Amino acid sequence: MCGIVGYIGKKNATPILMQGLRALEYRGYDSAGLYVAGKGVLKRAGKVDVLAAAIPKEFSGNAGIAHTRWATHGPPTEKNAHPHTDTSRTIWVVHNGIVENYAELREAMIQRGTTFESDTDTEVLAKLIGEEYGMGVVLEDAVTRALKKINGTYALAVMSEREPDKIVAARLGSPLLIGIANDAYFLASDATPILPHTRRVIYLDDGELSILSPNACMVRREFETLSKKIEVLEWDAETAKKQGHEHFMLKEIMEIPEVIKNTLRGRLDFNEGTSVLSGLQNVASRLANIQRIIITGCGSAYYAGLAGKNLIEEFSGVPVEVEIASELRYRRFTGDSKHSILLAVSQSGETADTLEAIRIAKRHGMLTLGIVNVVGSSIARETDAGVYNHAGPEISVASTKGFISQIIVLALIALMLGRQRSLQKAKGRGLARFLSELPEKVSEILGRKDMVAEVAKRYASMQNALCIGRKFQYPVAFEGALKLKEVAYLHAEGYGAGEMKHGPLALIESSVPTIALLPMDSVYEKTRSNVEEIRARGGKVIAVTTEGNEAAARLADDVLFVPTTHEAFLPVLTVIPLQLFTYYIAKERGLPIDKPRNLAKSVTVE
Ligand code: F6R
Repeated sequence: MCGIVGYIGKKNATPILMQGLRALEYRGYDSAGLYVAGKGVLKRAGKVDVLAAAIPKEFSGNAGIAHTRWATHGPPTEKNAHPHTDTSRTIWVVHNGIVENYAELREAMIQRGTTFESDTDTEVLAKLIGEEYGMGVVLEDAVTRALKKINGTYALAVMSEREPDKIVAARLGSPLLIGIANDAYFLASDATPILPHTRRVIYLDDGELSILSPNACMVRREFETLSKKIEVLEWDAETAKKQGHEHFMLKEIMEIPEVIKNTLRGRLDFNEGTSVLSGLQNVASRLANIQRIIITGCGSAYYAGLAGKNLIEEFSGVPVEVEIASELRYRRFTGDSKHSILLAVSQSGETADTLEAIRIAKRHGMLTLGIVNVVGSSIARETDAGVYNHAGPEISVASTKGFISQIIVLALIALMLGRQRSLQKAKGRGLARFLSELPEKVSEILGRKDMVAEVAKRYASMQNALCIGRKFQYPVAFEGALKLKEVAYLHAEGYGAGEMKHGPLALIESSVPTIALLPMDSVYEKTRSNVEEIRARGGKVIAVTTEGNEAAARLADDVLFVPTTHEAFLPVLTVIPLQLFTYYIAKERGLPIDKPRNLAKSVTVE
């Protein structure tokens, strides 16, 4: 979604801001713009490259702010792109988030004679700040006063032509961090634009405002100055690059063995047959007594949650409900809050609905835990405790390694909860061993990726597909269908294999292939029957099954094999051929794999 970059220091801000905008492209956007002190503003609809081509040589200065916009209020046009300005064209504002009361504020301003150039809520905010600034206060005070008048969420950066050596930034509900280098300060919505320059950062918290100048950075809440902790980012800029792969999606799939190792590192106790999760140590005794878990998340994170439900119920017997965060936040919370926990799953740690579900659960007195990849993100900071994925930066909009690392963390939590209850040590030891063997097994699957590419070529022109699975494979069916929709732009439905007879079987014909998740697990025979029913009705079948299943070649039109493991951990393996299959279909179709149309990596609005 929208991205902010800012720079103030001794160097030319323009190339730094443009590099920052490029680093933020992965979040999804449809227009871009920048303001450079002393030079003015430039905006363009479309890609950052279009903006770059419009920048004249002399467009340089030592401070500036820039933005990628993902349209919410008004179409993705040049006039709606940020920065926006006040009536006297003195201040410039870039903003992420939504001003909920913008329509009434705008109406009141129009009554006062103000005219607007754009359809955006941000312009209303810029004009509000401008009105306060017109009273003769300094920029930070004008921003503080204006923000009191709005409802909604924001991360914003503001500059004024009257005070060119200053950037004012503020946050409520949308992430913003400050990078600290020896001779400069940076501002960004996430760490990627900052990483090439420095790893020392300050995270702004909700309600905080920062004043950056070339040699100082001050953070305050209302008018009180705060002393903020400087944190050091774990990721480096190199990790976030493609490393020779054509797309981030493939690079991130190829990283999965390493990611699983990193997610597991130091967290398996083979002797005790359990997991050691330092992020949950403070709440371990509460976890031993919980009677219900609600897992929440959106998209792939929600499907990882479904996989987590199976793992937690299987190993620990603790009942688990899984709810999409955008629904959970509007539902009535029922049951005993004291003995329930909310477990929020989010790669970015910024998903607005997931964050809101956490806040509501907290208000109901529930313990909230996070499974988050981005260190220091809002969800990581707002949950009571949690476990980091350690999956490294995920740049491709479609989650692949992030999804797998979420399942691995959920497996570790399931193991810990199980061992706190009736799961026997010997069984726990066996499960720990199965988990530790997964990286090697994933490498075997990845070693056969060209075979998946061959199969994908044969199906590249399909328009519709079904993905079916049962028990542990049920969430994989949904995740596989989601990948096909978002990356390959084809209509795919995930279904429980047993549901085929209750409707979807009517869709079956030779042009609607079914991807059947058919490993040799405890429900193999049941799913095999469903596959036979599909074949009997003229449907094509691509089976994802375990090695050694010779019958699969007779049963299906195409077969993709994965190694065997404990059936509860098979989703980690069976989803990988689906990720690769999607990737190669999208490649055949010439689609923008890493940045699918209309989608954003970090969904910071509800
Ligand atoms: C799908 C995908 C999305 C995200 C969802 C949640 O490939 O990437 O469905 O899983 O937007 O995002 P996070 O995990 O950042 O909360």
